[in-house]
Amino acid sequence: MTVTLSSRAKNTNPSATLAIASSAKRMKAEGFDVVDFGLGEPDFETPAHVKEAAIQAIREGFTKYTAAGGIDELKEAIITKLKRDNGLSYSRAEVIASCGSKHTLFNIAEVLLEPGDEVIIPAPYWVTYTEQIRLVGGRPVIVQTREEDGFHLSRQVVEPTITPRTKAILVNSPCNPTGAVVPLEQLKAIAALAVERDLLLVSDEAYETLTYDGRAHVSIASLDEEVKRRTIVVNTVSKAYAMTGWRIGYAAGPAEIIKAMGDIQGQTTSNPTSIAQKAAIAALLGPQDDVRAMVAEFDRRRRYLVGRLNAIPGLRCANPEGAFYLFPNFSAFYGRKSNGGPIRNSAEMATYLLQNAHVALVPGADFGSDSHLRLSYATPMEAIVKGADRLERALGALRA
Ligand SMILES: Cc1ncc(COP(=O)(O)O)c(C=O)c1O
Repeated sequence: MTVTLSSRAKNTNPSATLAIASSAKRMKAEGFDVVDFGLGEPDFETPAHVKEAAIQAIREGFTKYTAAGGIDELKEAIITKLKRDNGLSYSRAEVIASCGSKHTLFNIAEVLLEPGDEVIIPAPYWVTYTEQIRLVGGRPVIVQTREEDGFHLSRQVVEPTITPRTKAILVNSPCNPTGAVVPLEQLKAIAALAVERDLLLVSDEAYETLTYDGRAHVSIASLDEEVKRRTIVVNTVSKAYAMTGWRIGYAAGPAEIIKAMGDIQGQTTSNPTSIAQKAAIAALLGPQDDVRAMVAEFDRRRRYLVGRLNAIPGLRCANPEGAFYLFPNFSAFYGRKSNGGPIRNSAEMATYLLQNAHVALVPGADFGSDSHLRLSYATPMEAIVKGADRLERALGALRA
C-alpha cells in the first residue's frame, strides 16, 4: 500500500539537535572517541531525594491515571515555586502540568492559533518554537537580535513586525542557544508594547535557575498585574533539576487558556506520568542545594570554555549570561578549505568538526543564525578540555 503522509508531517523538520546527536552516537558506536557538545541536557544525576520520591510513589502504588492536568499536590507545588522564586500568585485553575515544557508549548500553540495567526519569535531561537507554530498552521515571524547587542531582545526590533494577525510575542530568557538574559529595562519595554498592542506574551523560563555573574532571572509576568494577565509562564523541571527524562513541564496563566490546554491534553496525552509528578513535587519543594551546585559547576565550565574559544584566532564567542550553551561566531572561517573543499556554512562546519576532529556541535542555521554554531557545556570538564584542544587544532588546520 502507498502511504500518503499529511502535509503537516511532511513539512515538519526533524530536530537538528537530535540529528547531530544521532551522528555523534553512530560514530561513538563505531569506536570513535567523540566529544559531544551537542546535548541540551545536564550531565548531572537527578538529585537523590527526587529519585526517592518516585521510588516511594511506585511502592505506594501511585501508578494509575491522575487528573489530566496534574494532581492538586503538584499544582500546589508549582504555585509555591512561582510565589517563592518569581513573586507570582496563581490559583490552581491557573496552572497545568504537562509531559515536559515542549508539550506545554505545543498545547499553547494548539489553543491560541488559528491558521495564519502570527507569533513573534526572537532569533536566534530554540528550533522547536517555529516547528510547533507551523504544525498548527500558525506563522512564526522571526525578529533578529544582534550579536553586537549581546543578543538582547528589544522593543525596537519587535515593534515593526506587529501586524493585525499578531497573537503573541515569545520571550525566552535565558535563551537557548545564545544564553542571553533580557535586561530588565528591555523586558519592561517589551511588556509595555504587549499591553499597548493587546498581545499575549509566552515566557519560556526553562533556564531560569542558570544565570551567571550575579544576574537574576526576572519573569516578565512579575512586572505588574496587567502584564501578568496576558502572560503564560512556561517552565520545566528538566534543566534545573537534571530531570530531562522525567517529562514534567508546566504553565501558569489566564484560567481560560489553562483550561483549554487541559481539555486538549485530556484528549491527547492524558496526565503526565504519575510517578514523575511525585518526583517533580520533591524537586520543586525540596532542598535546592543541588541546583546551586550545578550552577556553580556550569559557571566554571562556561568561564573556561569562553576563554579557550576566544583564544582561537578568528573565533568570536560572546560571554553567555545564562543557560548552558555558547554560541560562537565561526563566519571568519567560512571560505577556508579543508581537504574536502571550502567550508561555506554552519552545517558544513559542523560536519567538518565531527568528521575530522570528532567534536559534535549543532549548526546555528537551525537556530536562525548561519554564522554561529552551538556548543553545550553540559558535559564534564575533562571532555570540555579535550574538545577545546581539538577545536583549536581543527580550525587551525583550515587553509585560506
Ligand atoms: C528553551 C527551551 N525550552 C523548553 C525546552 C523543553 O524542555 P522539556 O520539554 O524537557 O521541559 C528546552 C529543551 O531543550 C529548551 O531549550
